[in-house]
Amino acid sequence: CSAFDAVPVAWLAGAPAARTRLQASHKGSYGDMAVIGGAPGMAGAALLAASAALHAGAGRVFAGLLDSKVALDTSQPELMVRDPATLDVGAMTVVCGCGGGAAVRGVLPRVISTAQRLVIDADALNAIALDPGLQTLLAARGRRRQPTVLTPHPLEAARLLDIGTAAVQADRLGAAQKLADRFGAVVVLKGSGTVVAAPGALPSINLSGNARLASAGTGDVLAGMVGAALASGLLPALDATRDAVWHHGDLADHWPADAPLTAGALARGGR
Ligand code: APR
Ligand code: MG
Repeated sequence: CSAFDAVPVAWLAGAPAARTRLQASHKGSYGDMAVIGGAPGMAGAALLAASAALHAGAGRVFAGLLDSKVALDTSQPELMVRDPATLDVGAMTVVCGCGGGAAVRGVLPRVISTAQRLVIDADALNAIALDPGLQTLLAARGRRRQPTVLTPHPLEAARLLDIGTAAVQADRLGAAQKLADRFGAVVVLKGSGTVVAAPGALPSINLSGNARLASAGTGDVLAGMVGAALASGLLPALDATRDAVWHHGDLADHWPADAPLTAGALARGGR
């Protein structure tokens, strides 16, 4: 009898927080989340991540948009739009970066220091690559063992490592592991054969997914799915991350051949 025998069959279908919902649970059981990003002209990236998190089963999702003119997304009435400065992230899972532009730098010191669980993507990774002070804060967060997941594509990883993209691609396992060790974080190095690495663990290569994911915004969707998996608290950060990465690719592998794979549809789980 292995530990896996105890996992309910329902575990095998759907994203983690959507799968194992106990009868006597409530939305607070699945975690509060905030997506911080969406500078002017890029609100879509943050809204994609937030939508993906909702569909992956997060209990409550706040959209902390850096564009103060976006008050409400009427196509996603479940989302609560907030000024990121007013969000108390101490008891929340935060997904930070999506479409954040240069403005996301301003929230990073507070978010890195205080978010309960944290996913850092896109422009937030670029801001950290440019700022040794933020790198120090992130490494300190790792030493405190506060769960953090970095989700770079190869260029973002190259900037963080201060090497070329070709060098990252020539040793994807090594690059992901180096970032994981430097920041004490789970690292998702995206692209065909996404690598997931963490300190003290063997890195893994995700086998789901295909080139139909090469479409704008699918990385934002992944960030939201990883955030929801962390927020549910059902699994440790490394397992939750591997699971979300696999599920993101699996959605693409089961996508109808005659339907376009857009990030918006992917965020909705293909529905
Ligand atoms: N096979 C498998 N998976 C793939 C493939 C492929 N050939 N191509 C892409 N993917 C997956 C990646 O693994 C990742 O999960 O699609 C996703 C793409 O994520 P990103 O590279 O972050 O792309 P995107 O969502 O468009 O980024 C949006 O964030 O990183 C910034 O500059 C970027 O402004 C852009 C924004
Ligand atoms: Mg991206």
